[in-house]
Amino acid sequence: MDRIEAERRLGFLRTEIDLHARRYYVLDDPLISDGEYDALFQELLTLERQFPDLVSDDSPSQRVGGAPLPEFVRIEHRSLMLSLENAFQQADMLDFEVRLRHFLHSEESFVYVAEPKMDGLAVELIYEDGILVTGATRGDGRIGEDITANIKTIPAIPLKLPALTVMPPILEIRGEVYMPIHGLRDLNAQRREAGETIFANPRNAAAGSLRQLDPKICASRPLDFFCYALGNPEQTNCRSQHEALDLMRQLGFKVNPYIKLCRGIKEVADNFAYLLELRPRLPYDIDGMVVKVDSFDLQRRLGNKARSPRWAIAWKFKAAQATTRLLAIEFGVGRTGAITPVAVLEPINIGGAVVRRATLHNEDEIRRKDVRIGDLVLVQRAGDVIPEIVKPIVDSRTGAEQIIRLPAVCPACEEPLTRPVNEAVTRCLNPACRAQRVRALIHYTGKAGLDIDGLGKRAVQQLYDQGLLEDIPGIYALTIADLAPLDGWGQKSAENVVRAIAASLQTSLAKFLAALGIRYIGEGISQLLERHFADIEALQAASRDDFLAIDGIGEQAAGSLVRYFASPTALKMLAQLREAGLQLTAPLAAAGGLPLANAVFVFTGTLSISRNEAKARVKELGGRVSSAISKKVTHVLCGIKAGSKEKKARELGLKIINEEEFMRLIAAGGPGSSKG
Ligand code: IVH
Repeated sequence: MDRIEAERRLGFLRTEIDLHARRYYVLDDPLISDGEYDALFQELLTLERQFPDLVSDDSPSQRVGGAPLPEFVRIEHRSLMLSLENAFQQADMLDFEVRLRHFLHSEESFVYVAEPKMDGLAVELIYEDGILVTGATRGDGRIGEDITANIKTIPAIPLKLPALTVMPPILEIRGEVYMPIHGLRDLNAQRREAGETIFANPRNAAAGSLRQLDPKICASRPLDFFCYALGNPEQTNCRSQHEALDLMRQLGFKVNPYIKLCRGIKEVADNFAYLLELRPRLPYDIDGMVVKVDSFDLQRRLGNKARSPRWAIAWKFKAAQATTRLLAIEFGVGRTGAITPVAVLEPINIGGAVVRRATLHNEDEIRRKDVRIGDLVLVQRAGDVIPEIVKPIVDSRTGAEQIIRLPAVCPACEEPLTRPVNEAVTRCLNPACRAQRVRALIHYTGKAGLDIDGLGKRAVQQLYDQGLLEDIPGIYALTIADLAPLDGWGQKSAENVVRAIAASLQTSLAKFLAALGIRYIGEGISQLLERHFADIEALQAASRDDFLAIDGIGEQAAGSLVRYFASPTALKMLAQLREAGLQLTAPLAAAGGLPLANAVFVFTGTLSISRNEAKARVKELGGRVSSAISKKVTHVLCGIKAGSKEKKARELGLKIINEEEFMRLIAAGGPGSSKG
């Protein structure tokens, strides 16, 4: 066969195979036998081997998995991949609707889309001109990992989309990769036979498969995919979630058949009951139901909180529970000195995972639940949440159970413990406490921090025990000569770690803040801070009110930030890190990425949209909202019956705008025109 003929035949084979794969994997309604399909596929592979330069990226042959990757590349999502707030009962759903009404200043009921909540891994697929170019994990919501090679091996994910007139040049499809129950069962059986560890649940199995560096391994795993969202809906002509689902279905994606349009919370609740009853008969696991406001216009108005949208919520099924014996209590010392009682349990399988330990949070909880050592206890596991003790089974007590007492001194440093008034937590307040220091170091180098390769829990503990590492700046003083002679190290790993340490000096402000482990300042708030402050110096100069003006930052976080940046120890440490070469990459706010980055608004008088909504829109665009007029204010929005504030603003010569002007201002920089 000559080249021209081969090209023609390859085109035909690819179209045929795509068609039949879709009939089989997506529609579950094949037109030809497996044997006929295999023959087509074999012919494709043979021809492509003969003409390797004719292999295209969207060829079905690419699904078998290409060459292994050395590591995953990080990828920034075009728009944030948020997570969801949880609801556990109908009352939470009613609250959710009340919040919607309040926020939108509306009396109406809403149309919702209720979707089974898949227990798998969220991914984003990017199609450029209809060709799958990227598949990424959610990661921290802003940055995920490039798993394109693995994604391409999943038969239900189209490599190429049919040309529809309404398609934007870049299409972002979001959904869940999951492993069907029978697939997980077979895989685990194989693994057990091979002496490998088994996957505790479908979610771990999906995640473990997608994070394989060798795509051939991923290709051998029975993975499937349901889509549930568009990342860039404003670039399509869909006006609602149900239209978006229709579009994705037309494009050849699998959409869960049990998704339902519901009018009002009553219908939502009925559907929840239906799914709960259906759950045991589904071929895949679901852990609840996701409820979304259908209208995109309302979604846009409702906007997002730090980590989740206001317009959606996950109504979770009740957690799996089981009873087991409480064998002992261990006391841990956290990063902030909090003493946490951890129950050591007789190992038990709950909902597919073996549970050996459970948290008891604090002393009050131990008293309230009256748990004792030796008790038979009811333990529950809710999703990823750490297992917890629900209650002791009082009826089965023998009298030999022992009351749990909190230690009087820190189990790590033996300094006396204190329980601050109004706090439920007993703490070790010794700043030199070794347990706290080690925890802070582990946090800094770990996944939630700067993720320094080779400096995991064990390594940090070892370096601390050897007296080589005491505090965060000490990390940057470590040398190859320090590390190489240590037990289990060697020249090569010492070199790698020193290189990773040096690389960690270049990071983002958000990552760095989260790594510091300041109380109440986690990943979400760090990201918010990064949007509003250019650098550490700006954070040091900020006041409590400056922090409070940011949506998503409350009293506790603001207080904690002010305290932190006033502490001489922290300032000394920051100076040392700067000296060590810390270089924070420019955050969005500084780069002028957010249109209202330097604006400060005051609202006064009656507005037609709710204050909360107006506030949220300003904050989304990087601006701040203040309650008082001052020279720092850049815009004063005056509604009907604006009073003394308007007067004062005029006296100061501040810019005064009406609601119409305000709406124009926020529409001009509205979501979709900026990241996040
Ligand atoms: S919507 C902002 N829909 O749940 C919208 N998520 O807790 C966020 N999930 O990371 C996603 N089924 O992995 C959505 N029908 C569904 C879902 C779903 C499962 C997962 C997803 C996400 C997590 C959020």
